[in-house]
Amino acid sequence: MPSFIADSLPDHWGNKVFNEWAKAHNISTRNLSALDRLAYIGRRGMGALEFLPPAAEEMEQPFKVEITELYKLAQSALNEAKSFKAEAHPDLLIESLFKVGTSAGGRRPKAIINLNKETNECYSGQVATPMAGFVPMIIKFDEQLDVPTTRIEYSYYLMAREAGLKMMPSSLMVGEKAAHFLTERFDRQEGKKIHIQTLAAMNPSSDSYEDLFETACRIGILPSEQKQLFLQTVMNVLGGNVDDHNKNFSFLMGSDGVWHTAPAYDYTFSVDPSAPGYMNRHSMTINNKNSDFERSDLLELA
Ligand SMILES: Nc1ncnc2c1ncn2[C@@H]1O[C@H](COP(=O)(O)OP(=O)(O)OP(=O)(O)O)[C@@H](O)[C@H]1O
Ligand SMILES: [Mg+2]
Repeated sequence: MPSFIADSLPDHWGNKVFNEWAKAHNISTRNLSALDRLAYIGRRGMGALEFLPPAAEEMEQPFKVEITELYKLAQSALNEAKSFKAEAHPDLLIESLFKVGTSAGGRRPKAIINLNKETNECYSGQVATPMAGFVPMIIKFDEQLDVPTTRIEYSYYLMAREAGLKMMPSSLMVGEKAAHFLTERFDRQEGKKIHIQTLAAMNPSSDSYEDLFETACRIGILPSEQKQLFLQTVMNVLGGNVDDHNKNFSFLMGSDGVWHTAPAYDYTFSVDPSAPGYMNRHSMTINNKNSDFERSDLLELA
């Protein structure tokens, strides 16, 4: 399987949803190949790649979303011990989560939606470009952990913006019981799909910031945009974002075929204070180190 397709396959969270959905449909996931999974993604994937014919075209129809309902279901998907079938309208809900919860990557529970920021009205965001007034977004659900992850991610977003790091407009959706993190999608612009690739897809063995910059140079990223990447590097070090693995950097292609760095995302405090030190090392190295960076390491990279 060529690595550029890797971003389109369901990731940790997407597979969790996929597996629960398959269970409800008596589909054995052991017999599903990567191609089968891509066919289920169909035209619903992130970025611009589409896989035709889709295994289930009806998955692509937009529908109205009740965030609280979707959130409840996402919570039960997280807690695999609870059966989806215990829900009041299992089929309807599990189909909904499947349609909006399988394509976006990452480990944390999330969904792709089209949101009207004025009215908070929400539609699913699989394929269709939004109606006027609706913005394509990723919603990262409140996980109700001891640590308020979504609030921390939002405060890091504010800090990063203040430091001049390019990030998509983001906000917190605060309800009585939960605070969800919302971020606008950079792979949808003016109703069009934008081709994106993570560093992982472009250079699967990359495990250092040197690899990140080497890849950026290879695809012709302009110095001004490399400066953004360097700012992001410094912010990751200063902010304790140790979850800086190669899927947390992306490049996007303009309509003229020129590559650009994508806005930064998943910028948050990812040190676990209760874990031993060796667990809190950066995922990617700088100057062959993955902790205790000094100014000289960053300057060496620069
Ligand atoms: N604003 C955005 N627009 C388009 N795609 C995005 C955006 N933000 C994130 N993504 C894509 O979705 C994936 C998951 O997002 P994110 O990294 O925020 O989730 P996560 O679950 O916190 O990840 P992790 O597993 O690294 O903790 C990213 O790897 C990236 O490919
Ligand atoms: Mg991530």
